[in-house]
Amino acid sequence: MKEIKAIIRPFKLTQVITELKKIQGLPGVTVSQIKGFGKSRAQDAQEKIVDEMIEYAEKVKIEVVVKDDMVHEVVSVIQQNAFTGNTGDGKIFVYDVNDVIKIRTNESGAQAI
Ligand SMILES: Nc1ncnc2c1ncn2[C@@H]1O[C@H](COP(=O)(O)OP(=O)(O)OP(=O)(O)O)[C@@H](O)[C@H]1O
Ligand SMILES: [Mg+2]
Repeated sequence: MKEIKAIIRPFKLTQVITELKKIQGLPGVTVSQIKGFGKSRAQDAQEKIVDEMIEYAEKVKIEVVVKDDMVHEVVSVIQQNAFTGNTGDGKIFVYDVNDVIKIRTNESGAQAI
């Protein structure tokens, strides 16, 4: 099991989610509004947040946990739909997931995804 965590531009969220929902068997998605900075320290960001004198860019975080065989498809859908070609497009991180427990049924592991 893997977690795909993507940090993307907020205006790309609808397009990315619309395309992710087309993936057969997609188990779920978590979306958060976040702030951060990359190598350019958010200096070139259009929508900047200044917090305690530090500049951040507004971004959206998407988290998806899937079986290994779905990782490639999820990553490529996010990459294709979040792309503008400009600095600040974001990043996709992929992590190993040790376990998942579904609260309602007490299932665990891949069955619980
Ligand atoms: N190494 C990292 N660790 C944690 N978060 C990161 C990292 N790199 C980028 N981010 C997050 O992703 C957002 C977008 O990063 P961004 O795309 O600007 O990265 P970059 O390395 O500066 O690439 P680019 O040169 O294309 O701007 C940041 O605002 C931050 O929230
Ligand atoms: Mg950057």
